[in-house]
Amino acid sequence: MSVLEARGLVKAFGGRPAVRDVSFAVDAGETLAIVGESGSGKSTTARMLVGLLRPDRGQVMLDGVNLAGLRGRALRARRRDLQMVFQDPLGSLNPMMRVGASIAEPLVLHTDLGAAARRERVADLLGQVGLRPEHAERLPREFSGGQRQRLAIARAIACRPRVLICDEPVSALDVSTQAQILDLLAELRETTGFGCVFISHDLAVVRLIADRIAVMRGGELVELGPAEQIYTDPGHDYTRELVSAVPSLRARRSPVRKEVGG
Ligand SMILES: Nc1ncnc2c1ncn2[C@@H]1O[C@H](COP(=O)(O)OP(=O)(O)OP(=O)(O)O)[C@@H](O)[C@H]1O
Ligand SMILES: [Mg+2]
Repeated sequence: MSVLEARGLVKAFGGRPAVRDVSFAVDAGETLAIVGESGSGKSTTARMLVGLLRPDRGQVMLDGVNLAGLRGRALRARRRDLQMVFQDPLGSLNPMMRVGASIAEPLVLHTDLGAAARRERVADLLGQVGLRPEHAERLPREFSGGQRQRLAIARAIACRPRVLICDEPVSALDVSTQAQILDLLAELRETTGFGCVFISHDLAVVRLIADRIAVMRGGELVELGPAEQIYTDPGHDYTRELVSAVPSLRARRSPVRKEVGG
């Protein structure tokens, strides 16, 4: 059974459709990428998945349970299982709070761990994202952009979510830092087994992480398939356009031709 399923999600803002009938499923340990141009409805879809936005129609199923039917304690428990990483890590890190406390917040909210156990878990999480235990005492501004994204990821995985939704998590980072964060996400997915929805407008980034790719345009899901197939044999004209707009992917599709001017 899929860990996460979107069933016929629909959302309009002021009568203007932003997401029209979007359906897909994600397995545990799998990364589904959602790509598409600006305004295609990617973030709106993500916000419905994590419950930040109520769908006009359709359902979000987590382990086969419809989130819309849950209230109170049951809903909180499911929220814990669905975590989000944003483009701007400062969105999930309070600038006035030591980062150890920020990472511990979901543990306070969702677990019975005492203070000492929480400190231990925070140190462990910092290690998992490639930082050091003593970093817990610092403030967000004392970290680089890539490190801050590591902190946001540590916070997001603190309660071992079933699903991680990442909305443009590397779009604000330089290319080498992007690659490091993508490696980290792939590694964490291996070790913890969460299903991942990875949103990006950048097909070159998605290539490094996606098992399957969903292509959105104008609020609709126009194509969904295995990553390799999307790159080598896109079924939709729009997908073909997207793929051919990325130079490194074009080069890849015709390996006999030499790249000129790198
Ligand atoms: N809160 C809102 N109120 C009104 N309109 C909104 C709201 N959120 C999104 N929209 C509109 O819905 C459409 C889809 O927006 P969305 O943010 O989902 O796109 P996106 O694919 O994430 O784009 P980007 O790549 O720029 O992040 C856009 O036309 C946008 O203007
Ligand atoms: Mg967006």
